[in-house]
Amino acid sequence: MIDRINALRAEIESLTASTPEAAEQLRIKYLSKKGAVSLLMNDFRTVPAESKREVGQLINSLKNLATEKINTLKADAEASVAIAETAGIDLTRTATRIPAGTRHPLSLVRNEILDIFGRMGFTVAEGPEIEDDWHVFSSLNFPPDHPARDMQDTFFISRNPVDVLLRTHTSSVQTRVMEKTQPPIRIVCPGRVYRNEAISARAHCFFHQIEGLYIDRNVSFADLKQALLYFARQMFGPETKIRLRPSYFPFTEPSAEMDISCDLCGGKGCSFCKGTGWVEILGCGMVDPNVLEACGIDSSQFTGYAFGMGVERITNLKYRVKDLRMFSENDVRFLREFEAAH
Ligand code: PHE
Repeated sequence: MIDRINALRAEIESLTASTPEAAEQLRIKYLSKKGAVSLLMNDFRTVPAESKREVGQLINSLKNLATEKINTLKADAEASVAIAETAGIDLTRTATRIPAGTRHPLSLVRNEILDIFGRMGFTVAEGPEIEDDWHVFSSLNFPPDHPARDMQDTFFISRNPVDVLLRTHTSSVQTRVMEKTQPPIRIVCPGRVYRNEAISARAHCFFHQIEGLYIDRNVSFADLKQALLYFARQMFGPETKIRLRPSYFPFTEPSAEMDISCDLCGGKGCSFCKGTGWVEILGCGMVDPNVLEACGIDSSQFTGYAFGMGVERITNLKYRVKDLRMFSENDVRFLREFEAAH
C-alpha cells in the first residue's frame, strides 16, 4: 500500500497541463469519485489496524498534494490563455476612442502655399479684417470712382465720418507692412476677405487669399515669373506650365493674370478647362510706383512685384471641390475626406 502511495505521489508531482481543459481532465483522473486517489481511500479498509494511522496520514497528504498541484496547473493554464488573448492589444490605450479632428482643406492648402513661398524666403504677415479706405483702396491707387468702392461690391461698416469696411483683398496688409518697413520686403499675406456677392456654388461673400509682395533694388518681371513658375510646379507637379496674360489692376503696372496648364487633361482641353487647356489661378504684376510712394518707399530706388491668389480656387484645382459652399458648411463627412491629405 505504501509503495502504491509513493508511486502515485511521484506521478502527481510530475504532472503538466497546457490548457485549462487538460487540467480538468487531470482532476477527474485523480480526484473524482473514481479517481486514483479516491480508489486508495476505498482500499484503506484493508490496511491492518496497526498501520492505519501511518497510511491514513500518507493518503491525506497525497490528496492535499494532488488538489494543490492540479489547482495550480489550472490557474497557470488560464493565465496563459488570458495573456494570449490580449496579445496585440494596447493596454495603455484609453477605454473610449478620442475623436480626432481633421484639418480643414483650406488650412491644408494655405499651409502648403505658405510653405512653398517660405522656401523662397517669404515670411508671413497678417493684418486686420476690418479696415479703412486708405489701406484697402486709396494707398493702392484705386481711383475715387472705382466700382470696388461701391456698396454693391464691398461691405461697409460705416461711411461716416470715415469709411470703415471689410477688406476685399489682403493687399491691405502689404500697405501696412510697406508703411512700417523699408525694403527689402518679402512677405506673403494670408487671410479672409469679403465681397458683396450672392452666395452660389461658384461665389461666396467671403473667401481666403494669399497675396505676396517682394520689394528690393532691381526686382524685375523676370523674377516674378520665375517665382510663380517655381510655385506652380511645387504645387501642381513638375510638368506644370504657366502662361501670363496681360491684365489690369490699379496697384500694379504692368499687370498679368497667370494660367497653369490644366492637369486634368494635360493641356489637351477638357470640360474643366473649357477646352482651352489652361486654368487661371492668380493675378500679379509690378508694384505701381504710385503705391510705393504712397507708402513712403522711394520708387526711384526700389521696384517690386506682387501677386494674389484665392485659396479656394487652388483647393478646387487640387481636390476638385465642385461647390464653394462646402468649405463653410462644417459637414464632417466632407471634412473627413481630407484625412489622408494630412
Ligand atoms: N489684390 C488682387 C485681388 O484681390 C490680386 C492681386 C494682388 C493682383 C497683387 C495683382 C497683384 O484680386
